[in-house]
Formats: sequence, C-alpha cells, structure tokens
Amino acid sequence: MQQILQEALSQSEATGEIDTFYQDVIEGLTSEFKRLPSKFFYDQQGDRLFQQIMACDQYYLTRCEAEILKNQREQICETIQNGDTSFEIIELGAGDGTKTVHILDSLSLQGKSFRYLPIDISGNILNELTDNLLAQNPELDIQPLEGEYFQMLDQAVSLSGLHKVVLFLGSNIGNMPPADALQFCSRIRQSIMPGDMVLIGFDLVKDLI
Ligand SMILES: C[S@@+](CC[C@H](N)C(=O)[O-])C[C@H]1O[C@@H](n2cnc3c(N)ncnc32)[C@H](O)[C@@H]1O
Repeated sequence: MQQILQEALSQSEATGEIDTFYQDVIEGLTSEFKRLPSKFFYDQQGDRLFQQIMACDQYYLTRCEAEILKNQREQICETIQNGDTSFEIIELGAGDGTKTVHILDSLSLQGKSFRYLPIDISGNILNELTDNLLAQNPELDIQPLEGEYFQMLDQAVSLSGLHKVVLFLGSNIGNMPPADALQFCSRIRQSIMPGDMVLIGFDLVKDLI
C-alpha cells in the first residue's frame, strides 16, 4: 500500500500536477504516524462539530482563554492599540470568534479606530462570525478573508500599511509538532513589519495522570 502511494506521489511530482489535497493525503498516510491536516475537517458540519467540542466540559481551552481575554481585555487592548492611529487586527483561523469578541467590544467601546480581518479556511464559519459580530455591532469595520492562513495573511497585509496585530488563538499552535510551530511563527514574522504584534494562545504541557 505504502509503495503504491509513494509511487503515485513521485509520479504526480514528476508531472507537476499536484493537487494540494492529494499531496497532503498521500504524505499524511505514507508517514510513520498517519495524519491528515485538520484544515480538511472544517466545513459546515466540521464547524458544528468543533463548536460541540468547545462546549464539552473536558475542553477547557476555550473557557480558559475566554476568561483570560475577558478579564485582561483592558490590559490587552492597552498593549495592542496604536495610540489614536487606526490599526488592523488579523486573526488566523478565527472560527466563530467567541473569544475575540471581548477584545473587539472593548476597543469599540473605547472608540478606537480599527479594522478586523478574520481569516479562515471555512467560508461557513466566516459568514457566521461576520453576521454575529455585525448583529451586535453594526459599526464594526470587518473584512473576512476565506482561505489558507498565509495566502490570506499576505493578502491582508497588502491591503494597507496600517499597524498590524495578528491573533492566533485556541492553542491551535499546540496541534503542531515543534518544528512546524517554529516554522509557522517564522512565517508570520516574514509577513509583518517591525513594530507589528502577534498574540498567540499557548496551553501548557500537562502531567499525564
Ligand atoms: C481549532 S479551531 C480554532 C478556532 C478559534 N481560533 C478558537 O480559538 O476558537 C481552528 C480554526 O482554524 C481554521 N483553519 C484550520 N486550518 C486552517 C488553514 N490552513 N488556513 C486557514 N484556516 C484554517 C478552521 O476552519 C477553524 O475555524
């Protein structure tokens, strides 16, 4: 099986006709530890499943991060705001934005001038997020971007020269092997300018019980 998959991969590499999905599936299923990228999980049904996961008692990440963002919102907003100058908040894998809303609301209440650019591979969740945020705050300047993290980050960055704050929440980075996480952070660094900021949610490694 492995040999067949590897031959198929070499063949498609040779012809240069590699579809990303096909390549990801072949690579993931021929590796020692079988895996598939989680980006294929998220469509309307996958989004719903993830929302159900977030609501589980065992999934403490969402509650803990929401508590931090809610309780520390003033300090966070103080740190990320750009004086009285407009700035942009770009969120990678924004999902339904249930936690980010604390920061957005706080900045809006303070009358700060900012634009929110949520990036997500799922158009379904971006529509839900946009509708919910605009229903709560019709004045919010929001520009959803549907697609891959870095393709959309580069697009977002090219839209203006404003100060950027990039969010990557949910301890999503903890799903990556350390080398991939390092590469991910370096890639963000390549896209932004000195003085821009990045806020990443990290979970701690737990003792195994
Ligand atoms: C684990 S959820 C986290 C959602 C949100 N940040 C939170 O903390 O609740 C990951 C989100 O990232 C999106 N996503 C996954 N892979 C992606 C990729 N390669 N590019 C863009 N978005 C992606 C998914 O659609 C999903 O909404």
